[in-house]
Amino acid sequence: MAKVKSAFICSNCGHEESKWAGRCPECGEWNTFTEVTKTSAAKGQGAGEKKRGTDSIPLNAIPHESGDRIKTNTEEVDRVLGGGLVRGSSVLIGGEPGIGKSTLMLQVAASTNNANACIAHAPAARTSAARAAAKILYVTGEESAAQLKTRAERLNINETAIEVLCETDLESIVRSFQTIKPSLVIIDSIQTLTSPELGNVPGTPNQIKYCCHEIVSYCRETGCPVFLIAHVTKEGSIAGPKLIEHMVDTVLYFDQSDSELRILRASKNRFGSVDEVGLFTMSAKGLQEVRNPASLFIVHREKQTPPGIIVAPVYEGSRVLMIEIQALVVPAKGAISRVFSDRIDSRRVSRVAAILEKHLSLRFCDQDIYVNVAGGLRIGEVGIELPLGLALYSARTSIPVSAKVAAAGELTLAGEIRPIGHMQRRIRTAKEMGYEIFVGPQSADTGTGASWQAVTDIGSAIQSVFDLDTTQQGRREQKDP
Ligand code: TYD
Ligand code: MG
Repeated sequence: MAKVKSAFICSNCGHEESKWAGRCPECGEWNTFTEVTKTSAAKGQGAGEKKRGTDSIPLNAIPHESGDRIKTNTEEVDRVLGGGLVRGSSVLIGGEPGIGKSTLMLQVAASTNNANACIAHAPAARTSAARAAAKILYVTGEESAAQLKTRAERLNINETAIEVLCETDLESIVRSFQTIKPSLVIIDSIQTLTSPELGNVPGTPNQIKYCCHEIVSYCRETGCPVFLIAHVTKEGSIAGPKLIEHMVDTVLYFDQSDSELRILRASKNRFGSVDEVGLFTMSAKGLQEVRNPASLFIVHREKQTPPGIIVAPVYEGSRVLMIEIQALVVPAKGAISRVFSDRIDSRRVSRVAAILEKHLSLRFCDQDIYVNVAGGLRIGEVGIELPLGLALYSARTSIPVSAKVAAAGELTLAGEIRPIGHMQRRIRTAKEMGYEIFVGPQSADTGTGASWQAVTDIGSAIQSVFDLDTTQQGRREQKDP
């Protein structure tokens, strides 16, 4: 017999409490608890258990799954997915309303169809007749068919293989899966779906979890991949994608940087790396892929570079991007020095400032530090530490860094510069972008490169960068062979 009991669930993170609380102990948000009634199914009757066999299988008897991926033919999406969609996998796309999730998914539906790859791989499409009938199912619970058509016209998409289903009832959607037998499903959005078993209000934590579970289970069993769109709201007014992250194979977030750039980033990927980013710009005709982003974040100036600015080649996924770090150091407004840095972790900024303070006797303890990355990209890699140190030095001393210099390297607390990965590619990209001098750690990986200066500690790096003509101390200079 099923038991009914009540619980309180945070609409922001899905944390569950038996009593109501004003503030969620898990995510810290206020007034996000809502009461839900939970029906616990009798043993063996749970949503996930009903379709699964109970017999165990020897590991070596499990049939080998083909590693073939379904190319969406949108290169930036394929890159973030780890080379395309895996059959039967579920991909969650989270992002704020208006960021372009529906636009991206419609474009992906069209490009996947054009690539024809998914049709060839779909289990329902083994025969040529079934192949001809294979469909991409776009389930829209947010917009009417006419609204979707308007967007499709704007994007110049008119594929016959894209079936549109305006429906929010989970059972009807699953029934359509069974009749249409799609080769790719897009759910826009998971927060609009309802199952009558859990009431008529969409977007409650229980509804989202249940609907997601049912769709993901269906797709896993039939081998049809699914994209699930989920809105993220800063106010936590509706339950967000965090609730279902653990149920899906891949979690992507679509954000906007300070500039017009839209960034697709994986935060979980069972079938690939989470280091890749997909870059897009929104135009009047939809999202355009940014294929060659190396110079995208660099600010071009006519005059001399002001103090506090340096360029660094950073490794994002499998690409090198040239980014501009900007630092500003001003006397502290309060009794203590503060760090304001959104794009680079402020603890990293404080640590690099402390290294400069200790090893170069540069005072930061009575200064406020502001750090920014032009273009609004968040940078988490260690190679940013040396250029950050140089930018802070330049800002504190008001000595500009030459516009010809690019730098990358990790700093130890002792002020040494540690090697970082992919030096050769960083140097090559810097050279291609017109940076004549590359300052970085000594590394076996520098190969056939540009003119580079291997430095061993922060002192010698400062000498290399700020006194290029006169100082030879503490650095080794190597030129192209
Ligand atoms: P949309 O994909 O509806 O966002 P989401 O599904 O994430 O809520 O579209 C986002 C915005 O993009 C919308 O404000 C209109 C704009 N847009 C364009 O600028 N160009 C286009 O070609 C399209 C389709 C949308
Ligand atoms: Mg939308």
